Amino acid sequence: MAQLPPRERLKRDCARAALERIRPALDRQTTVGVGTGSTANHFIDALAEVKSSFGATVASSEDTAARLRGHGIRVLDLGDAERVAVYVDGADEVAPDRSLIKGGGGALTREKIVAAKAERFLCIVDDSKMVARLGAFPLPVEVVPMASRLVAERLAGLGGTPRRREGFVTDNGNPILDIHDLVIDDAAGLEATINDIPGVVTNGIFAIRRPEAVIVASPNGIEIVA
Ligand code: 5RP
Repeated sequence: MAQLPPRERLKRDCARAALERIRPALDRQTTVGVGTGSTANHFIDALAEVKSSFGATVASSEDTAARLRGHGIRVLDLGDAERVAVYVDGADEVAPDRSLIKGGGGALTREKIVAAKAERFLCIVDDSKMVARLGAFPLPVEVVPMASRLVAERLAGLGGTPRRREGFVTDNGNPILDIHDLVIDDAAGLEATINDIPGVVTNGIFAIRRPEAVIVASPNGIEIVA
């Protein structure tokens, strides 16, 4: 098999470490929430190797659902899942307090919904995602189409520079504004403030419901931030 590039290897390593961490608690009743993106894809591939040891999954995007089904893994609608024991997903930025920016892949709304339902949230990243303060990665904001201009004006009022993500709509049929130049000192406060703007579906700050643990892979090994 072809060797993975170093960054992909780290993504695979944190994904495998997450599986090892949750595996003892898996049984045929367990539903696992699965994130979206290249790191989450490694988790899906690892999960496929133990697919007889859990019951089902819920997916945070159509892409993730397709990859899970491709491995023969059962995917439930979230509304049909009584419990989601754990949610595993990547991130675009991780601050030392485990607040995140997510949504680089555009799946932020469904990711936030599955994270809210899950009893535990594990974030998996390679060390390039660790930052001292959130905000260098442009903050994704999913908006109802007719509100795009209003939301962009309000976000500019918060000091950001909104840019529409060209040629992209989410699985929910909405556009995304990527907000550059935001200063994020109070991540939970800004998450709530932006979500209060009429027409915002959600924004990519995950601070109010942040992961209980972040599994970070670096060339030196695995570190758990909890
Ligand atoms: C998708 C996400 C992803 O978790 C985030 O973009 C990280 O992706 P990757 O693992 O490919 O770097 O939030 O909406």
